[in-house]
Amino acid sequence: EEVSGARASLLEWYDRNRRDLPWRASNGGGNAGNAQEDGDGDGEEEDRRAYGVWVSEVMLQQTRVQTVIDYYNRWMLKWPTLHHLASASLEEVNEMWAGLGYYRRARFLLEGAKMIVTGGEGFPRTVEALRKIPGIGDYTAGAIASIAFNEVVPVVDGNVVRVLARLKAVSANPKDSATVKKIWKLAAQLVDPDRPGDFNQSLMELGATLCTPSNPSCSSCPISIQCQALAISRKDESVTVTDY
Ligand code: ADE
Repeated sequence: EEVSGARASLLEWYDRNRRDLPWRASNGGGNAGNAQEDGDGDGEEEDRRAYGVWVSEVMLQQTRVQTVIDYYNRWMLKWPTLHHLASASLEEVNEMWAGLGYYRRARFLLEGAKMIVTGGEGFPRTVEALRKIPGIGDYTAGAIASIAFNEVVPVVDGNVVRVLARLKAVSANPKDSATVKKIWKLAAQLVDPDRPGDFNQSLMELGATLCTPSNPSCSSCPISIQCQALAISRKDESVTVTDY
């Protein structure tokens, strides 16, 4: 069936092509296994991962991966856990953020860390609970819940809007909230129930590397067979994939 075909192809492509980034689990087995192997029942390892995912996703919101890597590594050396961050000062956090811009994001990380530590219940594990933390919106909540805690929820950023708009041949202006809402719905139907975090990252990564705004690499794309924009462009010379 079409949906599961696209899922399997995306995950297989991701397993072969994923970048080795410092906030990603390095033991190639995906996050599902990783999260469940920690058998001590206190979720400490998951919380550690969630913290890293949170910091990286907030940094990635306005900054490219290559730049984020250095900032992320420096941040984690200074504040290796949520508890370390919670006792930092705003001045220290702003200093660490220098050059990344949008300093509100750094303040939200600090305030959020304080709030979670004060709550005493560990890292929030669902989108619903994560959304209550100041500065954590739908995107960041979905990323943390799916990547660190395997909640089966979608994540949509600008890249995912483009990938799914092309896959389903829906015209999508990423600035129009109605279309973005439609894409979130589509993403929710597509997300892989066994590996939601890897699946979400595969869509983001596909959009960043192959399914680019201009000159997309359709001939290397793992889901070109299912891509409706590509199918239309092959039938109709006046249409190109980049129209979507
Ligand atoms: N862009 C932002 N977050 C990402 C992630 N987790 N994987 C790939 N690309 C991303």
